[in-house]
Amino acid sequence: MKCFRALVAGALLVPTLAGAGSAQDGNTEVVARLLEERCASCHSPESDEPKARKKWPNARDLGATAGDPELVIPGDPEESELYLAVDFDDMPPPDSDSAPLAASEKELIAEWIRGGAPAGDPNAGAASSEAGGRSAIISWISHFHPLLVHFPLALLSAAFLAQVLVHLRPAWKTEAAASFCLALGALCAPPTAALGWLLAADLSHRGSDLLTHRILGTLTAVLALAVWGADRRWPGRRLLLLAGLAALVSATGHTGALLSYGAAWLKPPF
Ligand code: HEC
Repeated sequence: MKCFRALVAGALLVPTLAGAGSAQDGNTEVVARLLEERCASCHSPESDEPKARKKWPNARDLGATAGDPELVIPGDPEESELYLAVDFDDMPPPDSDSAPLAASEKELIAEWIRGGAPAGDPNAGAASSEAGGRSAIISWISHFHPLLVHFPLALLSAAFLAQVLVHLRPAWKTEAAASFCLALGALCAPPTAALGWLLAADLSHRGSDLLTHRILGTLTAVLALAVWGADRRWPGRRLLLLAGLAALVSATGHTGALLSYGAAWLKPPF
């Protein structure tokens, strides 16, 4: 039990430390990526939004953005149009496909401006990722995280459902199905979490949303293995443990979906 507690504590601590590190270093690179992802669809020479291009010609050119006093007053986010536009949720336009920025993302922009809006070296991104030893292969492998997540998500939920049926409909004999789904789900969870950790290196600008997802995902992987391991010892508590696990894996899936699709994705049209 001691060892188990240490595992959980470790699982909580590691993502916290990693998150704290990534918020500080590479703020410039992170802001560059954020503006590129969320603004360049309209604010770039290729966009078909002439009004947007006129106010801010190229969201991909951080140097030009930082040097335009109509957009950025280095050191003073509250006087910088770029920050005010996102702070008031005027940008991205509420009726566009681009989701509004999360509070943590707004804060990254404010911090970047407060720090003098450094544009960095335009090639720094590619150079630092190579220097950091993060090869294209590892990045490619990490892209399988969104594919693999469906296995623990569905299997651990199915294990809970099968166990509920053990109690409600004993004649259906779903106990073996519950065991099978739990075992397979528990075995799929750690590799899924590991790929998530690799993928997180590409998403460091997502700040606290990413941190929440990381903590939940790591907990899910550790607890899924623990529940599977303890299954034989506590048969009487199986329903309760599987209910907890199903809730945890759902919360992890939900926070992951928010990262990928944004909060507006499932908003009903009425
Ligand atoms: C869907 C297209 C679209 C996206 C995405 C978009 N903008 Fe805009 N933006 C516009 C348009 C159109 C204007 C011109 C508005 C006007 O002149 O009335 C504009 C104007 C601006 C202005 C000038 C001040 C203002 O409010 O008119 C700023 C600053 C700005 N955008 C920042 C951003 C930032 C930062 C992002 C990304 C986080 C972003 N925009 C994403 C379309 C977009």
